[in-house]
Amino acid sequence: MPILNIQNLHKEYGRITAVNQLNLTIEAGSVFGLLGPNGSGKTTTLGMILGVTNPTSGAYSWFGETGSHEHRKRIGSILEKPNFYPTFSAYKNLQLACLIKEVQESRIDEVLEQVGLFERRHDPFRTYSLGMKQRLAIGSALLANPDILILDEPTNGLDPKGISEIRQLIIEIAQSGKTIILASHLLDEVQKVCSEFAILNFGNLIHTGKVDDGFGDQVLIEVSADDNLTLEAKILGYPLYEKHRWLKDKIEIHCKSNATATDLNQYLVTNGIYVNHLTVIKKNLEQQFMEILSQNA
Ligand SMILES: Nc1ncnc2c1ncn2[C@@H]1O[C@H](COP(=O)(O)OP(=O)(O)OP(=O)(O)O)[C@@H](O)[C@H]1O
Ligand SMILES: [Mg+2]
Repeated sequence: MPILNIQNLHKEYGRITAVNQLNLTIEAGSVFGLLGPNGSGKTTTLGMILGVTNPTSGAYSWFGETGSHEHRKRIGSILEKPNFYPTFSAYKNLQLACLIKEVQESRIDEVLEQVGLFERRHDPFRTYSLGMKQRLAIGSALLANPDILILDEPTNGLDPKGISEIRQLIIEIAQSGKTIILASHLLDEVQKVCSEFAILNFGNLIHTGKVDDGFGDQVLIEVSADDNLTLEAKILGYPLYEKHRWLKDKIEIHCKSNATATDLNQYLVTNGIYVNHLTVIKKNLEQQFMEILSQNA
């Protein structure tokens, strides 16, 4: 069942198109990754679906209903950093959050346990590590026990240990049955945490799919040699070979996703074949994303 439906959602800031006619459906129970380089429109998209950024045009609906304010209670987010009081403990900060969100204080201990801050609950917020602060932010977003959790770059600025703790926490929250929408510029974060993902580049949606088959897609390489029949016989033995077809005087090889031009060429040379043409026609998603990143650098 779709939990979120986005139709032609569009945002312009003056001459800048931050999000360009976005269409996207997110299914209940998924961990959805919005992947894109800096400035690709991730935060703008999250802002619009949370109702804090006005779209220039387009629409979205949560739980199949447009314009209902009731649904906001079912969504927790850490888009805007919550303002925690530095001298107050985690417990006291969450007490305040309970007041604002009209949530029973009995939720506080449950949430502190869940995000691994129960032992430290009475220490002042300012003494927390960045990772602990981030876990408290996630805890606060979970107070009202929302069905959906929206996270914008949840591991930004954390060290490797903090990163892996937050990722583990996200996976646990997802396993508890919540739908998670997560924006990240990190490919490996999306690969490790998400079940589905979309790639944004300059506000344009350039890919959506499942993480499993999405990153393991095929690489297409076109080759030819002076003796194409011998070449054909040899490519059958290429370890990353999947299938091939003839294109006039060339052969198009479908390879496993980790194949590269260099790797194939090396294999062919080792087998006595010197190609006169070798071009990668389609890279795998990971290679494509890396290219997007280098274009944006
Ligand atoms: N309030 C604003 N005023 C003007 N331009 C904005 C505003 N917010 C975002 N933009 C522009 O919109 C584009 C998309 O920005 P956005 O913050 O959505 O990207 P992002 O994918 O979240 O990037 P990052 O990975 O750096 O967080 C950028 O070109 C940005 O400069
Ligand atoms: Mg952002």
